[in-house]
Amino acid sequence: MPTSRHTWSFPTHIEYGPGAVKDLAGIVKQAGLKKGLLVTDKGLEKVGLPNALSQHFTNEGMELLTFSNVKSNPTDDNVYAGSKLYKESGAEFIVALGGGSPIDVAKVIKLLATHEGPLEQYDDMKGGSNLIKNNMPPVYAIPTTAGTGSEVGRSSVITLKSTNKKTIIFSPYFMPTIAALDPEYTVSLPPKLTAATGVDAFVHNIEAYLIDDFHPFADGLAKEGILRSFKNLPTAVKNGQDIAARGEMLVASSMGATAFQKGLGVNHSIAHALGVFYDTHHGLANASVLVEVLKFNLGNEIVRNKMAALGEMFGSKNDADAVVETIKDWLLSIDMPTDVKGIGIKTEDLPAIEEYALEDPCCPMNPQKVEKGDVTRILQNIL
Ligand SMILES: [Fe+2]
Repeated sequence: MPTSRHTWSFPTHIEYGPGAVKDLAGIVKQAGLKKGLLVTDKGLEKVGLPNALSQHFTNEGMELLTFSNVKSNPTDDNVYAGSKLYKESGAEFIVALGGGSPIDVAKVIKLLATHEGPLEQYDDMKGGSNLIKNNMPPVYAIPTTAGTGSEVGRSSVITLKSTNKKTIIFSPYFMPTIAALDPEYTVSLPPKLTAATGVDAFVHNIEAYLIDDFHPFADGLAKEGILRSFKNLPTAVKNGQDIAARGEMLVASSMGATAFQKGLGVNHSIAHALGVFYDTHHGLANASVLVEVLKFNLGNEIVRNKMAALGEMFGSKNDADAVVETIKDWLLSIDMPTDVKGIGIKTEDLPAIEEYALEDPCCPMNPQKVEKGDVTRILQNIL
């Protein structure tokens, strides 16, 4: 593959460390901006993070209006309401504070600042990204979870009321202008959510690493992301106030999302299906199937070799099966499931779950070819 054509892109400006949000306000001021819209959600408002953030911008002589009407599965109504406020207020930039949802909504509010609605026309499945020009206002993203990596991503997932479907809107120009990875903004995340979102970051890294494609930049990031999440997630779960572990998890999350431009695999396809069928938390769904999916992937010789090579990193034997067992122990140590017993999958749903997973865009990239019946077998083994 080193002799074939590839496209690689790693351009996000990242400000890392405690105090990064405070310093971000200074950088935005230097850009000559005065008025912005802060896109966040009600849960974060309750713990006071938007207020703490706004204070830094006020201290620099700027004004931030807060828009917090963002659902956990954001809708086009959320986007239109935020866009209206953005335009009426005369804002010049957007600050996105939250998990994936506020950051996704911010990207599309920025789209509507310079592009006409409705959002249907920008559906990536219908070639909508070709309509998106590079004339949008800046978005500054501050993640409050370490998992999705949306702060370095180029897509947004919005549910459109006309179809009631999750719709991907994609543009290379959606990449936030700056991502501020400030561990102090993740310490309020409770242990269970820290574990579930952290496993999502781990799975992004390991699925990207295992994909059989020539992408040495993504592979380098993915390996580092695997190591950092493996080492630090247990500490972040046990002691949420541990700034070093929280910081490492933010880094691992951004690394995962940068690395998965290489692709993801059937672990995510099944997690997406479980999210749709049973509303299972994305990170929890990823954790539940991970060990069984890794065992399935070990049927591929390239995967076996790559997994064995991780042994040293994990402090276990350089043996693919031993590495999978190490990952299983790691999941159990942070109280994550390694089967789907808690999800309540109904046997009669299995054909529809399999059909959904097989049609998921991540599935064709899985290193071990996924044939009809494989997804059902994977789930039956851990029911
Ligand atoms: Fe994910």
